[in-house]
Amino acid sequence: MLPLKCLISAGPTREWIDPVRFISNPSSGKMGYALAKEARDMGFDVCLVSGPVELSKPKGVEVIEVESALNMKRVIDEKFNFYDWVIMTAAVCDHRPKSRNKIKIPKDQFPENLLMSRNPDILKELGEKKRENQVLVGFAAETHMVLESAHKKLKQKKLDWIVANDVSKTNQGFSSDQNEVTLINSDGLENQISRADKSVIAKEILHAIHLSWLEKAH
Ligand code: PMT
Repeated sequence: MLPLKCLISAGPTREWIDPVRFISNPSSGKMGYALAKEARDMGFDVCLVSGPVELSKPKGVEVIEVESALNMKRVIDEKFNFYDWVIMTAAVCDHRPKSRNKIKIPKDQFPENLLMSRNPDILKELGEKKRENQVLVGFAAETHMVLESAHKKLKQKKLDWIVANDVSKTNQGFSSDQNEVTLINSDGLENQISRADKSVIAKEILHAIHLSWLEKAH
């Protein structure tokens, strides 16, 4: 039997203002890379779509490097139909500057109010076109009302699973080696995964989803 195919996004996106300035966020890619390594070790055929990070590429994983939300969307849209599981850990910037200046904007001419455009919601669009047998997993990065917001995103984006994480704490979520998450399925059932290294969190998430996938397949 052919291995299952898993598409994972990781890291931040960068939205350039001019050649020396951009808007981004503190995602390090650690959570997404840990999931990619674990999925590979579980025998998946893995493709990792990665924003700019300082991590080395996992062996045995196809890595496609992207920068902006629009770049990431183009790659994921091209790949989506060919994958069984799609996991979006990327911290995609919701907005981008309306235009990218070709040359560095002099300090004294920098606008006080930067005009912004809304980026597409990549995951929401995937939820609209997902096939019955595809598994779609989102992450919710929240600073307050963590579980309520995650449940809302699960429904709005038509996901099979969402992983809620509280990014208001400094020792988990963005950039840290550890995380503490709640995995929620499409029936709204919550499974709390206590604080551990992201490799352990990745293993627990993937094994829970795999178990449910096997139960549904047989
Ligand atoms: O990279 P690390 O340093 O290890 O940190 C891990 C993490 C905190 C980035 C990760 O665990 C996490 O929470 N990722 C999701 C970050 C995020 O963008 O959350 P959100 O609640 O804004 O978005 C919800 C979901 O929609 C996410 O799956 C996101 O990938 C997706 N999304 C968001 C905006 C957008 N324009 N397009 C999207 O597809």
